[in-house]
Amino acid sequence: MALMPLTAFLFQKKEENENVTDELILLINEIAAACKEIAGKVRKAGLLGVLGSAGKVNVQGEEVQKLDELANEILFQSLKNCGKVCQITSEEVEDALIVSEAGYAVAFDPLDGSSNIDVNVSIGTIFSIHKDSVMQPGREQVAAGYVIYGPSTMLVMSLGDGVVGFTLDPESGNFLLSHPKIELPEKGKIYSINEANRNKWTSEGLRWFIDYLKTEKYTQRYVGSMVADVHRTLLKGGIFIYPADEKNTNGKLRLLYEAKPMAFLIEQAGGLSSDGTQSLLDIYPHELHQRVPVIIGSRWEVEKCLEYIKEYG
Ligand code: AHG
Ligand code: MN
Ligand code: MN
Repeated sequence: MALMPLTAFLFQKKEENENVTDELILLINEIAAACKEIAGKVRKAGLLGVLGSAGKVNVQGEEVQKLDELANEILFQSLKNCGKVCQITSEEVEDALIVSEAGYAVAFDPLDGSSNIDVNVSIGTIFSIHKDSVMQPGREQVAAGYVIYGPSTMLVMSLGDGVVGFTLDPESGNFLLSHPKIELPEKGKIYSINEANRNKWTSEGLRWFIDYLKTEKYTQRYVGSMVADVHRTLLKGGIFIYPADEKNTNGKLRLLYEAKPMAFLIEQAGGLSSDGTQSLLDIYPHELHQRVPVIIGSRWEVEKCLEYIKEYG
């Protein structure tokens, strides 16, 4: 039976979800088209001479990879020209680009998992869409999602009424609805955290929690690309954590284009998110590139983690 293409799905959604306007449908199609182009570059990077460093440091103080820059360019061009976007925020650009007074405001991480580009490990693009401004709590997002450039190229997104997944069909060039309803298992058996930082974590309770999971026969998986670690958590359950530590006192991940969109997806799929005290979707952004500690995943593990943090600090 033929799978439904993205555009047909969006027009069907328009009938049942008032947030889905023609403008939003056009915008999501623009993002999907830009990510298809990025996927093309990612899959031939070694042939295009776009591997390695661009020899620059970005506003995050991180070395920019050539593919980060290329992906950023592709997304900026698409969004600037689509005529539906009023404000564009990118991990790779210090200030938001104001395009017009009103419309959809988009924040994106053009390429997440940059440290994995040169070693051919899954990376992705993350996007968050608000009405008028991205400086709002994540709960107000109109849509959020990511494209993961893995063995398959998949678009996973939510329009505020559940989570769906599309797989890119290389022959037709269409994103086809391969996952009509992604729901997080109530409890998983995988935890995902960079344990190299264990002794630097500011929360003693977190160390106790991770040790507890080890007694509960959990396994550990950590790709180092948030998109890949969250995608696995969405499909298999468990917990993904990037905590605050002595070096990164607010954690490493950025609220606007990593934590907020991913928390939106995880909560829409039945899971929970927290910065250790509140849902990541309730945080009022005060800075474009602000960082937050990230605890997201299945309800059972997130609640248990928060119990340990409450108990042991
Ligand atoms: P980006 O490549 O966009 O800077 O994001 C990298 C992030 C995220 O993808 C991942 O979860 C995290 O960095 C991994 O950080 P560590 O290498 O410190 O574990
Ligand atoms: Mn990232
Ligand atoms: Mn990035």
